[in-house]
Amino acid sequence: MIVAATSTKALWYLTRGSGIVSLVLLTASVVLGVSTAARWASAKWPRFITEGLHKNISLLSIVFLAVHIATAVLDGYVHIRWIDAVVPFTSTYRPFWLGLGALAFDMLLAVIVTSLLRVRIGHRIWRAVHWLAYGCWPIAVLHGLGAGSDNGQQWMLFIDLAAVAVVATAVFARFVVPATTHRTNTPLVGGRA
Ligand code: HEM
Repeated sequence: MIVAATSTKALWYLTRGSGIVSLVLLTASVVLGVSTAARWASAKWPRFITEGLHKNISLLSIVFLAVHIATAVLDGYVHIRWIDAVVPFTSTYRPFWLGLGALAFDMLLAVIVTSLLRVRIGHRIWRAVHWLAYGCWPIAVLHGLGAGSDNGQQWMLFIDLAAVAVVATAVFARFVVPATTHRTNTPLVGGRA
């Protein structure tokens, strides 16, 4: 009895921890994606580093999301089915907030699968699907805010605010500040302007 209660609690902590790590990784991935698209680079930080980090952090976020979802389903304290993780708004437990999580997960899967198949599907389709990332991230933030048990905590508020601040800054710098100020299409070192 005690063992079952302890393992359920462990799963619950894992759900929360992996959810937070997933959100942080997703945030980093969005910022790195924006940086790649905007071609921000310098001599000390060439673009291939940003691109490599963007790809690997995105893949890592899927690993943590798998843990997040598996522990949420396996923790029998509340009834969440596997299908609730992929079909939005079907869960009997917090249908709206979990539905947002499922929606964000589906969008992320679409973005990652099309990225892995980029050469086969072509640049236009890949790019069209990749725009989903801009929708996926805020939906994931809302899901965390609505479903999470740690929202009353100051440190969680700090994580959420920091995530919103960095993404907002990156998006603002890319789309609002004139692109010419940032673009470095030519190499900075040894290159001609
Ligand atoms: C991109 C997808 C997702 C991200 C980034 C994400 C992230 C998060 C975050 C940050 C929290 C708050 C954790 C806390 O307050 O400690 C959370 C809570 C939660 N998520 Fe997700 N999530 C995602 C998808 C899903 C999916 C598909 C499910 C479906 C099973 C799910 C189930 C849960 C549950 C049950 C909680 C509440 C845990 C608690 O009791 O505190 N999440 N998620």
